[in-house]
Amino acid sequence: MPVLLHIESSPNGAESASATVAHHLAKKYVEHRPKWTVETVNLWTVRLPDLDALCVAARGALMVPRNESVPAATTTPAWEEVLGIAAHFAKADAVLISMPMWNFGAPYRLKHYIDLVVQPGITFDGKPDSKGHFHGKMTGKPAFAVYSRGGTWLPRIGEALEEHQAPWLRQCLRFLGFTPIREVFVEPTSLSPKMRAHTLAAAFRQAEEAAAL
Ligand SMILES: Cc1cc2nc3c(=O)[nH]c(=O)nc-3n(C[C@H](O)[C@H](O)[C@H](O)COP(=O)(O)O)c2cc1C
Repeated sequence: MPVLLHIESSPNGAESASATVAHHLAKKYVEHRPKWTVETVNLWTVRLPDLDALCVAARGALMVPRNESVPAATTTPAWEEVLGIAAHFAKADAVLISMPMWNFGAPYRLKHYIDLVVQPGITFDGKPDSKGHFHGKMTGKPAFAVYSRGGTWLPRIGEALEEHQAPWLRQCLRFLGFTPIREVFVEPTSLSPKMRAHTLAAAFRQAEEAAAL
């Protein structure tokens, strides 16, 4: 059975705007594709191992050609755990990431998770092409991103503030080779309850469109 892997990165459970919209998207996605199933992982309820010096060395040893200054890979329990998390992510047939904006970018648990799953030989090819470019191994798999923000960030052209939420995640997903990448924006969420309801309704419509594609 093909799996849509939903990675939830808000700690807010049922109150989370990003997760609420993502659950709606997932529900619609499987309605259109009855053979599919949804697996949800909330990053605040799972253990994420530290990417310590031994893990970083083991990662370096997977690059081709191997960096000779990096000692041969020593496997450790933490690295085995990292490989398991990356392999689980790589196995998904489609990925949905729901993400609140925290200080203009990613909540740290999501940054941590992405640093664990972007691994040479598993989710991207550790051997660069003749131009030195790396290629993702998630090609042909769709990815969905649901971004929630307290403020209004979409029409900010010409303003000094930059946001690093959507551009960062989009770049990671592109690097890994996902296509197509569909995005849903849930903003603003921090105004009145009435405004929040309006924001959610608009985001549900975006989610339905994304799920139908
Ligand atoms: C630690 C923290 C940092 C935040 N930083 C921003 C920010 O930089 N810009 C913004 O518009 N909203 C910011 N917010 C508000 C959240 O993005 C907003 O409440 C969002 O709806 C949370 O999504 P969730 O309900 O899925 O957790 C922040 C919230 C928290 C808890």
